[in-house]
Amino acid sequence: TGSVTIRELATALGIAETEIIKKLFFKGMAVSITQTLDIPTASLVAEELGVTVQTTEEAPAATKVTVMVGEEDIENLQRRPPVVTIMGHVDHGKTTLLDAIRETKVAQGEAGGITQHIGAYHVDVDHDGQTQQVVFLDTPGHEAFTAMRARGARVTDIAILVVAADDGVQPQTVEAISHAKAAEVPIVVAINKIDKPGAQPDRVKQELTDRGLQPEEWGGDTIMVPVSAIQKENLDTLLEMILLVAEVEDLHANPDRPARGTVIEANLDKTRGPVATLLVQNGTLRVGDTLVAGSVFCKVRAMIDDRGARVEAAGPSFAVEVLGLNEVPAAGDEFEVFESEKEARSTANKRADEQRQSRLQQVMASRRVTLNSLS
Ligand code: GTP
Ligand code: MG
Repeated sequence: TGSVTIRELATALGIAETEIIKKLFFKGMAVSITQTLDIPTASLVAEELGVTVQTTEEAPAATKVTVMVGEEDIENLQRRPPVVTIMGHVDHGKTTLLDAIRETKVAQGEAGGITQHIGAYHVDVDHDGQTQQVVFLDTPGHEAFTAMRARGARVTDIAILVVAADDGVQPQTVEAISHAKAAEVPIVVAINKIDKPGAQPDRVKQELTDRGLQPEEWGGDTIMVPVSAIQKENLDTLLEMILLVAEVEDLHANPDRPARGTVIEANLDKTRGPVATLLVQNGTLRVGDTLVAGSVFCKVRAMIDDRGARVEAAGPSFAVEVLGLNEVPAAGDEFEVFESEKEARSTANKRADEQRQSRLQQVMASRRVTLNSLS
């Protein structure tokens, strides 16, 4: 389904959008500026301008790996909460499990009737007489997880793989395993629905063993916890295991620097405009900061936490909803705070241009055609 917007084509060809509309008009095609063109039509315009259309094999893949915490942070490293993503096959109980964890662990006064704005939840867990925070990423289908896998970045520290004891390993279970493995994220298995009459936790263990995840009790190194999200059974053990794995992971970040991190999700809100949930992976994000998320500029107007409360600052592992973006960034995009607003704006503009170019190239390549630049 190759198509290209008039703006993209104009950028690629280095001419005004109105020029394209004019050319098409004289060819008897009435198009509006917001319209997208199919590849043959786009190629027609390109050829009019003397741009040769060539066949090509593949578009260059844009991959970039950002080191979120670097050498310059070593002096100021502090422990940060683990970021945990819940994954698994449809209907195996991911949301119910997360709800159960939150309900039992989220402090009084914040539960009940409060609209959750963001797909990330901060849960306080009592552990060894201390309170430790864990950040859960909801909606296992999160695009960010796939996007970050492609980029080699790590958004999540631990994956909880939920497998229903009465249904066993299913296609999306397998997919989740490969996602987590590709991202080199440790997996903790929650064998869910053990309350059900048809539950066969041992069968699940066997199926997982066949997929390369062997339970500890069978001599492997994967932690598997049988739970019931509905009956809130064994959730404490699961949380304890998460903290144990987090401890081994030795998670640190430097709160004393401008923030950087990843866009978890983003959308255009009818009343509030572009809104994004940002996961801070290093540094501290503050209201008033200027940042670039992917190719989007943002002067942070307000930040809202998972309880719907406004916050002034968000440190490492915190996920906050951010207002003040000039456009909707893509899930999985990285963001970075800039000291200079001017620099942030020009960086965002530059990246937006580059993105348009590469998108156009990809669209063309998907049809095995590409535009040579005018010369
Ligand atoms: P998707 O988001 O659609 O992928 O599903 P999910 O994995 O989030 O599953 P969800 O939490 O929506 O649960 C699916 C169904 O399983 C619901 O009807 C739940 O009530 C039920 N369920 C979840 N956990 C348990 C459990 O521990 N025991 C039993 N008996 N039912 C459960
Ligand atoms: Mg769900």
